[in-house]
Amino acid sequence: MIFIKDPLEIRKMREGGKILTRILKSLEKEVGAGMSTWKLEEETRKLIIENKAQPAFLNYQGYPTALCVSINEEIVHGVPSKSRIIKNGDLVSLDLGISYRGLITDASLTVGVGKVTNKERKLVEVTKDALNKAVVKAKAGNQVRDISRVIQKTIEEAGFRVIRDCVGHGVGKRVHEDPLIPNFVQRGKTEILKTGMTLAIEPIATLGSFRTVVDVNGWTVMTKDKSCTAHFEQTIAVGKNSGEILTPF
Ligand code: MF3
Ligand code: CO
Repeated sequence: MIFIKDPLEIRKMREGGKILTRILKSLEKEVGAGMSTWKLEEETRKLIIENKAQPAFLNYQGYPTALCVSINEEIVHGVPSKSRIIKNGDLVSLDLGISYRGLITDASLTVGVGKVTNKERKLVEVTKDALNKAVVKAKAGNQVRDISRVIQKTIEEAGFRVIRDCVGHGVGKRVHEDPLIPNFVQRGKTEILKTGMTLAIEPIATLGSFRTVVDVNGWTVMTKDKSCTAHFEQTIAVGKNSGEILTPF
């Protein structure tokens, strides 16, 4: 179901989005070799409480934590744990959703720890670029496929591949709302974008094959060939000339 948000709801999401961004940026600064991913989870919970927000992922469909930390071949839904230690050279994606004044915003970013290869650095840059280009397409009158197309083009022209099993989505009243926003173009009609729609756009690229497997924990999605991935996500409001980023980082 698509939920159209009124201007007051979008204003609340703008406020929540600013808080979410502040938390993500502060987590990004903390990420370092030798640290457990659980430390980031603890920090996240503390910052969410300090900002009078609530975690949106914790207990969502049984998800066990507030934060997703997905490292290297892990694509999404990496579950923080005391035994998972971040290493030099890791690509770490931090994905967080918060609820603020009853509305949810969702964002993620990927950070390279210490010395990462040039190829990996490029993967991160290209994925971020794909997101920025997609935001421009999120204007009223365009279709979902205009977003999908520019993401696929940006990633594939750089020589990388799009993960097909993970998609962007409407967001706001719920973590996942319609429409789905694939990161590649498929046949058939797609939803026409209208003002009042709020979307989480989230390109994910890999250095290798887009085939995926799910970890035994039932959550973490990984590349089958263990190739490295990068993930960026913003919550946006569909605008007249472009999408408006509600989670500016
Ligand atoms: N940003 C992630 C997504 O859109 C959040 C998943 S919710 C979780 O898929 F609770 F499953 F983590
Ligand atoms: Co999302």
